[in-house]
Amino acid sequence: MSLVLDPAAQDLLFREARTANSFTDEPVTEEQVQAIYDLVKYGPTAFNQTPLRITLVRSAEARERLVQHMAEGNRAKTAAAPLVAILSADNEFHEELPALFPAFPQAKDVFFAERPAREGSATLNAALQAAYFIVGVRAAGLAAGPMTGFDHEGLRKEFLDDDHTPLMVVNIGKPGPDAWYPRSPRLAYEDVVTTV
Ligand SMILES: Cc1cc2nc3c(=O)[nH]c(=O)nc-3n(C[C@H](O)[C@H](O)[C@H](O)COP(=O)(O)O)c2cc1C
Repeated sequence: MSLVLDPAAQDLLFREARTANSFTDEPVTEEQVQAIYDLVKYGPTAFNQTPLRITLVRSAEARERLVQHMAEGNRAKTAAAPLVAILSADNEFHEELPALFPAFPQAKDVFFAERPAREGSATLNAALQAAYFIVGVRAAGLAAGPMTGFDHEGLRKEFLDDDHTPLMVVNIGKPGPDAWYPRSPRLAYEDVVTTV
């Protein structure tokens, strides 16, 4: 009774949402991805820096190049998914900062003049946005299969550049037959939450 979100939406986004390992052939359209982005772009990031960048791997040729960099156990499902997205952090996000955070445009120079500070912040905040993205995929009635099992440096060289750090590869689509492993347990509230 404490949650105000409609129970069906709670199930769709969390209780019944699963990490998919197989998908139907039904395509994921540009319109769906745009609707997902236009929803999850409102998720908060520090100084509104929004460092997540998304590379949609659609062509067969690009998919083949991507699969080579995936860990063995992730290859078949990445080759077969209707859509695959590479999520990365833009370490040069500060260039956009004066426009994205007009309340304090000096943040660009005060906090993010040095690359190591930018990298730490970009990784944290793009990872937050990656989580929003996964929930957004679920909000579109689709399933996500996020993966960090890939050659990160190899993938970066293949698809990105020095200014971008790959975080996650996400298979997206309608779940196929035997799409999930048995649900693993979660830690209980008492095991996680401390009140001081
Ligand atoms: C950041 C991240 C990286 C993951 N990497 C992989 C991976 O490389 N290969 C894989 O098969 N599953 C991977 N998973 C899937 C997790 O094991 C799965 O989401 C988790 O066990 C929860 O499963 P459930 O959603 O079905 O309950 C990853 C999940 C996340 C969020």
